Amino acid sequence: MNERIWPVQGDSRVPYWVYTDEAIYRRELERIFEGPTWSYLALECEIPNPGDYKRTSIGERSVLVVRGENGAISGFLNRCAHRGTQLCQQDTGHVKRYITCPYHQWTYDLEGRLRGLPFFRGVKGVGGMPPDFSMAEHGLTPIRIQGRGGAVFGSLSAEAPTLEHYFGRKMLGFYDRVFDGRELRLLGYSRQRLAANWKLILENIKDTCHASLLHVFFVTFGLFRVDNPSKLRMDDSGLHTALISERGRQEFNEGTRQMQSFKAELTLQDPRIIDAVREFPGEATVIMHTFWPNLILQQQSNTLATRQIVPRGPHEFDLHWTFFGYADDDAEMTERRLRQANLMGPGGLVSMDDGEIITRAQEGFRNAAEAAGVNEMGGRDYADADHMVTDVALRAFYRGYRRVMGL
Ligand code: FES
Ligand SMILES: [Fe+2]
Repeated sequence: MNERIWPVQGDSRVPYWVYTDEAIYRRELERIFEGPTWSYLALECEIPNPGDYKRTSIGERSVLVVRGENGAISGFLNRCAHRGTQLCQQDTGHVKRYITCPYHQWTYDLEGRLRGLPFFRGVKGVGGMPPDFSMAEHGLTPIRIQGRGGAVFGSLSAEAPTLEHYFGRKMLGFYDRVFDGRELRLLGYSRQRLAANWKLILENIKDTCHASLLHVFFVTFGLFRVDNPSKLRMDDSGLHTALISERGRQEFNEGTRQMQSFKAELTLQDPRIIDAVREFPGEATVIMHTFWPNLILQQQSNTLATRQIVPRGPHEFDLHWTFFGYADDDAEMTERRLRQANLMGPGGLVSMDDGEIITRAQEGFRNAAEAAGVNEMGGRDYADADHMVTDVALRAFYRGYRRVMGL
């Protein structure tokens, strides 16, 4: 890699090569996704029964999470121990007791142990595996798995601390607010492929100001706006963040007067889409969480979702949305969650804007390695804030990122 030098202004600048440079991207895979981090993989309710599996990923690595006979969840690389073939190509599925590779039918149990392979003893007295071949040494490659409150995380590193230490007590409080131990109910998926660098979607959530400028829907109906009572909380690394906000109204005020996207006359044919009920303790109607490195956890009114980031090179990533509720929701609540989910996802009334704008940002970074973004709103510090008129979460993010990446 050509040695890349960070701009002298420090963490308030983001050089555009972090979004385009192949070598930087390779280093990210190695130090971040394969490093001592925990990546979000699944919700337990996606694989409720023994033999259920989900194909998911850590960075670019395809991994499987599987519910075993005893109910425990294991994780493996989605790669046959024989000659590397991907075992499962469906996103979710069910096997009876074994996972069999389609190529030469090596067969593994739900804990990833190799249990059998054809022609083991040869055929008609010829061939077969050597007598000292050990099944025990040729199982699937396990990954570390830890669950909390119904979500499952995985790590490729023996060095990652426990999930609790990794998030830290402060961020865990926000996490546990949504994943509070109640059984979850899967409501649905949406997926999108975006022609943008994977960090841009994390930035998008940490970039508190944009929500009040870009999103006509948020701004007009007051769902998430800088003039609402808001807070921004970060962990010590600066990499995990929670944005906490209370809903405002469709009104002209000092804030909305500066927002071109505020539409005083706009009305909804069906206002039920923003009809929210309080369900969590406290006044916050929105908490947007970013858990480093691959999870956005969203509570926007009553729509709850995880968004899993799957990088695919410096210029592209996939975003996997999983919408959920709680098993004890009544039918009305489920319907409300689903209705509000129309704000989100690839065609969502709000999130569509984000997908479009980060793609445009990536276009802007082409052939612009000498230039850098400016994150100076709210000063140049890193402290938690009791408002959203600030880029502090972006500065803190790049401070943490630079430390991990050695930049
Ligand atoms: S590659 Fe899987 S059985 Fe041969
Ligand atoms: Fe946004």
